[in-house]
Amino acid sequence: MLKGSRLTLRAVTRDDLPRYVHWLNDLQVIEHLSLYLPMNIDDETEWYEGRHHRSDALNFAVDDETGKHIGSVGLMNINPRVQSAELGIVIGDKTAWGRGYGTEAIGLLLEYAFNTLNLNRISLRVNADHPGAIKCYTRCGFVTEGEMRRAEFRAGRFINQYLMSVLRAEYQERP
Ligand SMILES: CC(C)(COP(=O)(O)OP(=O)(O)OC[C@H]1O[C@@H](n2cnc3c(N)ncnc32)[C@H](O)[C@@H]1OP(=O)(O)O)[C@@H](O)C(=O)NCCC(=O)NCCS
Repeated sequence: MLKGSRLTLRAVTRDDLPRYVHWLNDLQVIEHLSLYLPMNIDDETEWYEGRHHRSDALNFAVDDETGKHIGSVGLMNINPRVQSAELGIVIGDKTAWGRGYGTEAIGLLLEYAFNTLNLNRISLRVNADHPGAIKCYTRCGFVTEGEMRRAEFRAGRFINQYLMSVLRAEYQERP
């Protein structure tokens, strides 16, 4: 549905669900996500079947230039009154990391959020010890609004998180 130079963002299908289960049980993939419970196909199917009843969230599957499904990107807590939402991304195929796909997928989603959904503010929270994601978000125009102290707990220790956001006007003014 949304086409970039290499990536396509399209509707999630039932056939995608086993890949989500595989990715979301991979401790390396979920290291910086808030997920920590094991997940099975029933959990994913429940999410998939329930998504039509939720107007405050949307998800795209991300395919690379060969048509391979490599991840997912979406918006949560969409608030039409405030024109705001929160962004989430998982490039679940680890062989695709560090090749600019995250940056391109977020760019496509921001275009859609600002120019089709008429949103004005997209925000996210990211662990302070996740430099690859922070670089990717910064490249997409996100700025750090603040640091939340000890907002996450993982592997026996507390971790700070940054709150980042991008506003439509500043996104559109970028070169
Ligand atoms: C975070 C994530 C979306 C980034 O996607 P990606 O496709 O790897 O991102 P990009 O390649 O567009 O950009 C990442 C940049 O950070 C760099 N990078 C990666 N790891 C790094 C590290 N440890 N330190 C510094 N830079 C790092 C990459 O080299 C790349 O920069 P470059 O293009 O200048 O080489 C992806 O790794 C992912 O989905 N991870 C699992 C789920 C997750 O953590 N989601 C985000 C939760 S906040």
